Amino acid sequence: MTRRLPGPSLERLAAAHELDVWPHELPPSQEELLARARSANGLLTMLSDRIDAALIDACLKLRAVVNYAVGSDNIDLAAAAARGIQVGVTPDVLTDATADLTWALLLAAARRLPEGAEAVRAGAWRTWEPAGFLGLELRGATLGLIGLGRIGRAVAERAPGFGMTVIHTSRSGGVTLSELLARSDVISLHCPLTPQTRHLIDARALAAMKPTAILVNTARGAIVDQPALVAALNDGGIAAAALDVTDPEPPPPEDPILRAPNLLLLPHVGSATRTARARMAQIAEENLLAALAGRTMPSAASGA
Ligand code: 8YV
Repeated sequence: MTRRLPGPSLERLAAAHELDVWPHELPPSQEELLARARSANGLLTMLSDRIDAALIDACLKLRAVVNYAVGSDNIDLAAAAARGIQVGVTPDVLTDATADLTWALLLAAARRLPEGAEAVRAGAWRTWEPAGFLGLELRGATLGLIGLGRIGRAVAERAPGFGMTVIHTSRSGGVTLSELLARSDVISLHCPLTPQTRHLIDARALAAMKPTAILVNTARGAIVDQPALVAALNDGGIAAAALDVTDPEPPPPEDPILRAPNLLLLPHVGSATRTARARMAQIAEENLLAALAGRTMPSAASGA
């Protein structure tokens, strides 16, 4: 286990198996991970652990990799499948938490909460102004969803309360990407990170958005070409962005994303509710116990 998990799962796993739990707050380096994973039958990993083909090849006893996440882009699924290693994820239980956070980001960016809050704290709020901190009225605005899986649908379900019109583009239908980019007032990303979606939001896509558009990302940082986003924010190509995910995570101190204007950045907290994280731990535990007992994992990664 590359991190201690919340809740009773750790004790239950320890009762059934010999556990090696990485004790530190920062993730293990690739060398440390490899050294400790080499003799493991199962791995319980975070999105910050890279489970690549080299690591999989070096772990001869490995039968199961269980990600404490719904995403599995940090794991080489093909390499795992080639070795008959099961890969598990934690779907469903974090859908509402992530959809809620998407709306929190959307609302914060639409109503310019970071700027307003900062102005108050900095003593820069001098008086009430008729045209101060004007933002986007959601009723009647168009929300464009890229990806319509569990989380995308949960985001869409919340839209009628705000009076937004929802359009989407996904593998199975909806409008074209170019129509979505041109029509949306807010664009929110809900696709997995794959070779097809890496840098889907590049300079061209950003240029195709309205200059008043807001980009929200609670999926994976690398779906966005981050330097292109920084340029679009600096040049007023789009109005604002609100991101729970970046590429890399965390951004190094010199990364220009940290100084881009009209940008709200969060430290990847989409699933960070007590309920979701406890349920994720339970699913991860069930996946691991099943695979180590020779059964099929109840929540396998799709494509695994
Ligand atoms: C988690 C996520 O916070 O589940 C995912 O794929 O990105 C987030 O919900 C994170 O992955 C926990 O490891």
